[in-house]
Amino acid sequence: MPEQVWSDVDEFFEQHLLPADDVLRATLETNVAEGLPPIAVTPPQGKLLHLLARACNARRILEIGTLGAYSTIWMARALAPGGRLVTLEIDPHHADVARRNLERARLSDRVEVRIGRAADLLDAMQGVVEPFDFVFVDADKASSDVYFQAVLALSHPGTVIVVDNVVRSGKVADASSDDEDIQGIRRMTEWLATQPHVSATAIQTVGGKSYDGFLMAIVGKR
Ligand code: SAH
Ligand code: DHB
Ligand code: MG
Repeated sequence: MPEQVWSDVDEFFEQHLLPADDVLRATLETNVAEGLPPIAVTPPQGKLLHLLARACNARRILEIGTLGAYSTIWMARALAPGGRLVTLEIDPHHADVARRNLERARLSDRVEVRIGRAADLLDAMQGVVEPFDFVFVDADKASSDVYFQAVLALSHPGTVIVVDNVVRSGKVADASSDDEDIQGIRRMTEWLATQPHVSATAIQTVGGKSYDGFLMAIVGKR
């Protein structure tokens, strides 16, 4: 099935279900102009994150991997009144672009961009911050298992966790892959199998960003 069809279908649903939005358009344009890689979630995926965050009435959202804050804006717009979003980014230029995009979106009062290695920033939050209601994991995939375990310690029963890019054109099924990203996703998935209080699934997706997928989990009582 040609990728053109996947993009055409995305476009059809975008036209009908995603009203034109100057802030989101300007965010993507700024990301391109600032030389950021074109790896933000697609518009339909961004809206899915928004709907999921709304469905669980999220007051506290955590994101790992900000890039230019495109996904951040979608999720922050789902925050219940008084809610907060914390997003972690290692690249100071990405964080700078993200802050400007959030300013334009009038979300700076609700969103905090923290700069550093996500593993370090997550460690620093342990035992210090209130648990999060909704988490989007979207940084380096090689560390997926590390991030998932750290996120679990920042969760409560009912927390929803979504992990991006868990399929990578099907490469995740190759146990002998020498791709560190694939091995990280496989370690995370194998570890999840040992956690009876976490209920998870993974969904393969096609669209404007080709063939990939999401993992979604909900944390239960320990
Ligand atoms: N969530 C964004 C896309 C994130 S792309 C969106 O959909 O709009 C992945 C981001 O993770 C990049 O900006 C990259 O710089 C960042 N990243 C990579 N390794 C990281 C690390 N170790 N700690 C924190 N951020 C990291
Ligand atoms: C890529 C895509 C992503 O959504 C991401 O978070 C990181 C990398 C990619 O296509 O390389
Ligand atoms: Mg991603």
